[in-house]
Amino acid sequence: MTASAAVPTYGADIYTDEAILEPYEHYRALRDLGPAVWLEQHGAYAVARYAAARAVLLDSDTFRSANGIALNEPANQVILGCTLASDGELHAHLRKVVAHRLMPRSLRPLREVVARRAEELVAELVARGSFDAVTDLAYALPMSVVPDFIGWPQEGREHLLEWASANFDSFGPMNARAERTMPKCGEMAAYGAELVRTGNVLPGSLGAGVLEARDRGDITTEQAMMLMLDYLAPSLDTTISAIGSAIWLFARYPEQWDRLRAEPSLVPNAVNEVVRYESPIRAFGRLAETDTEIGGAPIPAGSRVLVIYAAANRDERKFARPDEFDVARPDAVHQLGFGVGEHGCAGQALARMETESLLTALARTVTRFHLDGPPQRALNNLIRAFGSVPVTVETET
Ligand code: HEM
Repeated sequence: MTASAAVPTYGADIYTDEAILEPYEHYRALRDLGPAVWLEQHGAYAVARYAAARAVLLDSDTFRSANGIALNEPANQVILGCTLASDGELHAHLRKVVAHRLMPRSLRPLREVVARRAEELVAELVARGSFDAVTDLAYALPMSVVPDFIGWPQEGREHLLEWASANFDSFGPMNARAERTMPKCGEMAAYGAELVRTGNVLPGSLGAGVLEARDRGDITTEQAMMLMLDYLAPSLDTTISAIGSAIWLFARYPEQWDRLRAEPSLVPNAVNEVVRYESPIRAFGRLAETDTEIGGAPIPAGSRVLVIYAAANRDERKFARPDEFDVARPDAVHQLGFGVGEHGCAGQALARMETESLLTALARTVTRFHLDGPPQRALNNLIRAFGSVPVTVETET
C-alpha cells in the first residue's frame, strides 16, 4: 500500500530505540504535518492530533478493529476475534461476557482490599526510606491484586510480566523487538488455552466467569481461550507504567506533589494527568473499511491507520501548555490514554483504583521523592514505561 498523494508523509521510523526513548518531537512533527500523515517506514497513516484521533476511535464502523490492531500481520492473525480485535455484534457479545465485572459498581467490594494493600506496601517501603518505584512499588500492587481478580492460578504467575510485555511488543511493526517476543506470546496463549481445558482458575474470578459462559454455551471454547488473555494481557504493564511514571513525575515536579498533598481530592485528576502526560499505551491501529477521510485527508479503503494516543494527549490544539505536568489541569479528564468509544479500556476503573490508592497512601506520609540515580526506561514497541526508578523518600516525621 502507498500513500494517497494529498497526504503528507513522514520518513522516520518511530519504533527505533531512540524514537521510543524520546518520542515527543516525532509526535509534534506528525501533528504539525496534518490530521493524517503517511508513515513511509510502517505503511500506515498516523493520526496524531487529538480531534482526529478521537473521531477515528469513535467511528468504529469505518475504522475497524476486526482485522487486527497491530502494525504487523502475523500478530494481527493471532488475535483475530478477541475483544480488542473484533467489531460490532461479536465485539458487543464478547464484552458482555465479563466486562461488567470491571465496572466501578462491581469493583466496589475490591476498593477496600486494594486500599489496604496500598497502605501496607507504602508503610513497608517508607520504612525502608529508599526503594525502586518500579520494581518495589509499581509491580507490587497490580501483581498482588490483578492475577487473583482474573483468577490465574499461582503456578505460571512468574511468567506473567514477561508474557504481558511480549504481547505489547508484538503489536508494533515487525522489528527485532517484535520478532524476539513472538515465542513468548505463543507460551502465553498456550497457557491461557490450558486453563480453559483444565478449568484451573480461581473460583469466583473473572476467569471463572469466562468458563461459566462457555459452559452455558454463550461463547465457544476458542472464544473462552481468547477472553482469558484479553483481560490478563493488558492488565499489568499498563498500570505498572502509570504508577512508575507518576512517581518519576512527582520526583521531577515536587511542587505538583505539594499541590496534591494539599488537596488530596485532586488524586483522580492527577491519575488522568499522568495518563495524559506519559500515556502508557502509545498507539493502536485500525483498518479503513471504505474510502474515507480524516480531517479532510483522503484515506483509501484497506489502509492501516495508527491512532497515536500519546501524541493526541500532547496536542496543543486541545490542551493548553501540553508539555507541562499539572495535577489540577481542568481538562485532564479528556485525555485519550484509555481510548474512547466501543473499544475504550474495559479495565480502566481497576487501573484507576490501584493508582489512586497508591498515590493516596503515599500522599499521607511522603513529603518528597528524590531520584537516587538515572531512571532506566524499559524499551517496548507499545508500552511507555520505566524498568527502574530508584528513589529516596522524605517523610513528615
Ligand atoms: C493505566 C492502565 C491502562 C491503560 C492506559 C489502558 C489503555 C487501554 C487502551 C488505550 C485501550 C483501547 C484499545 C483500542 O482503542 O483499541 C484499552 C483496551 C482494553 N483494556 Fe486497557 N488500559 C489499562 C489498564 C487495563 C486493565 C487493568 C485491564 C484489565 C483488567 C484492561 C483491559 C482492557 C481490555 C479488555 C481492553 C479491550 C477493550 C475492547 O476492545 O473492547 N486495561 N486499554
